[in-house]
Amino acid sequence: MILGIETSCDETAAAIVDGDGWLRANVVSSQADIHRRYGGVVPEVASRRHLELTVPVVERALEEAGAGYADLDAVAVTRGPGLIGALLVGLATAKAIAFARSLPLVPVDHLIGHVASLYLEPDPLEPPFLVLLASGGHTILADVVDHTGMHVLGSTLDDAAGEAFDKGARLLGLGYPGGAELERLAAGGDPAAIPFPTAMRGRSGHDLSFSGLKTALRVTLETTPDDRRADVAASYQAAIIRSLGERALEAVTASGRETLALVGGVARNQALRADLERRCTAAGVRLVCAPPDLCSDNAAMIASAARYLPRLQPDAYLGLDAYASFTEAA
Ligand code: KG4
Ligand code: ZN
Repeated sequence: MILGIETSCDETAAAIVDGDGWLRANVVSSQADIHRRYGGVVPEVASRRHLELTVPVVERALEEAGAGYADLDAVAVTRGPGLIGALLVGLATAKAIAFARSLPLVPVDHLIGHVASLYLEPDPLEPPFLVLLASGGHTILADVVDHTGMHVLGSTLDDAAGEAFDKGARLLGLGYPGGAELERLAAGGDPAAIPFPTAMRGRSGHDLSFSGLKTALRVTLETTPDDRRADVAASYQAAIIRSLGERALEAVTASGRETLALVGGVARNQALRADLERRCTAAGVRLVCAPPDLCSDNAAMIASAARYLPRLQPDAYLGLDAYASFTEAA
């Protein structure tokens, strides 16, 4: 059994995945309530909370799996990208558990982890496929040829899709985190009410962009009466979804892959799932979405990724550092 630990942002998470890829326990303790009053994640506050929660969350996961430390074969942990202080808490905890129990350690990239949310039983997805990873920190289109990594074809030039949801929600006066709240408000509005621009339409390559849309929302809200907020939210959400959908379908068509997979926190959005389903059906592409409870940050995806990655011994892992940004991953 593999113990996974994830502390890259404001979720303290631990999970147990067995040797056959079945999830035996998945514990996520969200700090959203703490950060809400600040309107976003405060990195130092997150690190301190991880410090208090990581060991209890690990022990809870073991308990839920009906397992003990002696049943573990490896410890997997998110090494980056994310908040550096938050990552270091998880990494130090994982090193300590691995060293004390003479277990190998498997460092996992958080984004590869999101993709590996698709590899768990009972319905694991087999590469190759094209993936749209849309989260609060990243928005990436990548070709996945095997279980160990991905080849990035395009990514956002500015804000991530989840960031566009969160910042949009803030402008609309909604709470944090904003994605789910914006989706709720949008459900009662007309997505065609306001013609927000579709970023990157007609541009070559597979990059995305969301910061212009946020500016368009700010300008729109200055001249729109309050009673039309649902229409504004629905139109804004539709513009994000349109951009993700158009770019994803262009990429999957260009790649010749038969399957498009959707992962990351934004993949929880039902309107996005429905829109992609429509586009994929029309293009003869199979759409596979990560299970909703494995879209947002969790440690099941980290333990899942670890099944395919090298297991390190103390000489290789004790000096291992975390990394904050995706470009440092190599
Ligand atoms: O993958 P994730 O949990 O953390 C990162 O790795 O960033 O993604 C969090 C992001 C947040 O921006 C949140 O607003 C967004 O996912 N999100 C949603 C929804 N639920 C979460 N965005 C749109 N609609 C949702 N229902
Ligand atoms: Zn994430």
